[in-house]
Amino acid sequence: MIKTDIKKTVLKIGEEVTLFGRVETVRDHGKVIFIDLRDITGIIQTVTRNKQDISPEDFVKVIGLVKKRPENLINKDLETGEIEIEIKELVIISKAKTPPIPTVGDGYDIDENLRLRYRYLDLRRPRLQQNLKLRNEVTRIARNFLDSEGFIEIETPYLSKATPEGSRDFLVPSRLQPGKFYALAQSPQQYKQMLMVAGFEKYYQFARAFRDEDMRADRQYEHTQIDIEMAYVEREDVMGLIENMYKKIAESLEKKVLENPFPIFTYQEAMKNFRQDKFDLRKSKDNNTLAFAWVVDFPLLEYLKDEKRYTFSHNPFCAPHTSQVEDLMKEKNLDKINSYQYDLVLNGEEVGGGSIRITDPKIQRQVFKVMGFSEKQIERDFGHLLEAYEYGAPNHGGIAMGLDRLCAILSGEESIRESIAFPVSGSGQSAVVGAPTDVDPKALKELKIKTT
Ligand code: AMO
Repeated sequence: MIKTDIKKTVLKIGEEVTLFGRVETVRDHGKVIFIDLRDITGIIQTVTRNKQDISPEDFVKVIGLVKKRPENLINKDLETGEIEIEIKELVIISKAKTPPIPTVGDGYDIDENLRLRYRYLDLRRPRLQQNLKLRNEVTRIARNFLDSEGFIEIETPYLSKATPEGSRDFLVPSRLQPGKFYALAQSPQQYKQMLMVAGFEKYYQFARAFRDEDMRADRQYEHTQIDIEMAYVEREDVMGLIENMYKKIAESLEKKVLENPFPIFTYQEAMKNFRQDKFDLRKSKDNNTLAFAWVVDFPLLEYLKDEKRYTFSHNPFCAPHTSQVEDLMKEKNLDKINSYQYDLVLNGEEVGGGSIRITDPKIQRQVFKVMGFSEKQIERDFGHLLEAYEYGAPNHGGIAMGLDRLCAILSGEESIRESIAFPVSGSGQSAVVGAPTDVDPKALKELKIKTT
């Protein structure tokens, strides 16, 4: 490749280089014209005495000489501030229309719908480029860490089965079986449990999870989880592994972890101290400090007053405390039963959650039963999982971390949309493409779907 990355020009003083990039600014001083050029690695000042027909945002190729700047003209704010490029030849690769939104500056004051409509321009903003690079760094560290711990990355289906409760499903019509629907997986939960039955012992996956929830600053229709499941573990083993992973991430990004090991609160303590199960332990809102905390011992069940029945407090697969299994089976003291669920809190947000799982199909059936599921419903919705556990399984547990939330916090952003390349807007429109849209009536006919 003939392109020299802008960042590397500092190593090439006195040499001729070929740069490719986007024009950030043009400053015409009459005799000389300064053109700041940006590529993914950085920004550099180029200079010419010839008039050029270029404007900001044009993409250009520049052949030029790398020269040291005189001492009094050094720009300490730039990584390449000690040098500049004397242009020998400039070629316009692509002319740009004036962008409808500025691509310099932090962009917070621009209408978000406009930013998302032109996301490919919005993403030229150094702040967003930095956020996505940080996200890449986080995934790289997490992958390396899990790999070094012997985890195997396994993909599981997104086209899955509709489940009652949980969040609302995104449904996908089946063409071959008209009238039937897949549901986009709300998480790989059941698949990772079956991978434990299959004997994989240490599984992970960067998985998309799809949930039709009301949008908020910390929620998207599809989010990414670092999803983990491990065999032969106790709750403390999973928590210990995650702490080590986050310490590696914090260290590499030069962030300070407020308390080590991460403090642990029971659900009762959290509610008493903070009135909620997510809280911020920092004294001041300092972005470089990471205040992690665990919340454990959640109630297994939650009573729905209006419906006069119980439901699960996290997901129906959390194991009850061993000493309380008997109560569950006898349907005694149901409100008092605690689960082996653990949530991870970071700077006031829930960034992860998991549990030790039920592996005894009798106990699992009982959980569904106390939630008011009929035998028929249990078979229809969860028969496959109950059957899997009939064939023997290791004890196991796991966790899923919300990658978008983690990255937003690490980047000092209020909204997870700032850490996602193409997020959906607050009103649920997909960035740039503007989905959802009407579709060709022929496609609906094929799916045997009538719209009103
Ligand atoms: P849970 O539902 O708690 O657990 O999800 C795990 C983590 O994912 C993040 N998260 C979200 N992020 C953005 N937008 C959303 N709509 C959204 N919903 C959740 C949160 C949360 O802590 N299968 C279980 C995990 C397990 O038990 O192993 C699960 O999905 O940071």
